[in-house]
Amino acid sequence: MSTKKQLQLMHGDCRELLGLLQENSISCVITDPPYNYEFIGRNWDHDEIQRRIERIQDSSTLVKNIPYGSGLAGGVRNERWYQRNRENVVQYIEWAKDWSNELLRVCKNGAIVAVFSSTRTLAHIQIALEDAGFYARDVLVYRRHAGIPKGLNIEKKLAKLGDSDAHEWNGWHTCLRNEWEAIVVVQKPLIDNYINTIQETGLGPFKAILSDGSFQSNILEGFAKGRDEKFDEHCTIKPISLIRKLIDLFLPNDNNHVVLDPFAGTGTTLVAALELGYKAIGIEIEKNYIDVIQKRLDEGLFTGIHINGEQITGADTKGEVA
Ligand SMILES: C[S@@+](CC[C@H](N)C(=O)[O-])C[C@H]1O[C@@H](n2cnc3c(N)ncnc32)[C@H](O)[C@@H]1O
Repeated sequence: MSTKKQLQLMHGDCRELLGLLQENSISCVITDPPYNYEFIGRNWDHDEIQRRIERIQDSSTLVKNIPYGSGLAGGVRNERWYQRNRENVVQYIEWAKDWSNELLRVCKNGAIVAVFSSTRTLAHIQIALEDAGFYARDVLVYRRHAGIPKGLNIEKKLAKLGDSDAHEWNGWHTCLRNEWEAIVVVQKPLIDNYINTIQETGLGPFKAILSDGSFQSNILEGFAKGRDEKFDEHCTIKPISLIRKLIDLFLPNDNNHVVLDPFAGTGTTLVAALELGYKAIGIEIEKNYIDVIQKRLDEGLFTGIHINGEQITGADTKGEVA
């Protein structure tokens, strides 16, 4: 694998920076955008996340695992509340359409775009991607086994309020244990059919038949975070083994393919792509996370890395990835 021009990392808002990428240059997108949880919102307020994480350390009631799902986190459920919630959903879809349109432009025909989402936001993400022109292929289940119920235990709450009939609500709660995240899988339209597309862009089908002859399920499980994944400065880091699996599923072994992550976080997609021998492009809005990515890449001893066009590792000449 050439060490030249392997990774391009860009700092800023992907809705603007995607415009700098070449049309029809990306072979696969694997990304994990904000899930529209109220206080994270679409703008990912890092300081607010940190403040809340610190605040919940001793609490048994507040949300400990942040990326749960869309909408407002609390408040009186009056008409105004539901109205604000609806507006929030519409704004989230509009925001997702902005980057979905750009993704369609930069992807090659047949390229897969896989977007992590919560059980409450996957519909919004899928609508935005389909509206941009992508074709829906599947929704994968990433089974986590780690969800904790977030909500109200009705019996306990009534007892606290002094209701003598509280026991009648034994077992009643306002939500279920959340054990999976969605991966919305869409595809840029084929060139007439799979064979033409494979011949033109090298993309289209899934690597669905496994080495033992079995068929890949659309439920993915058993992907725990490895011991080496100590980049927990970021609360939503995904297991690198899971991202590797997705890349294997979507991309043939051709080192010229470029993997893009427009919401790079700590760079899990980028590291997985580089490890598998592909080129990668990452965009991240938070400077803190750009630094984490850089540290992670340094430890992986990757070379030929560019941030905002500036070479930061290796002895290669400057250049573009795609
Ligand atoms: C859910 S996290 C991704 C975590 C990643 N999967 C990992 O394993 O580290 C989403 C990331 O998107 C970034 N982000 C939010 N809005 C953005 C935007 N408009 N452009 C680029 N990055 C953005 C956030 O700062 C955050 O790091």
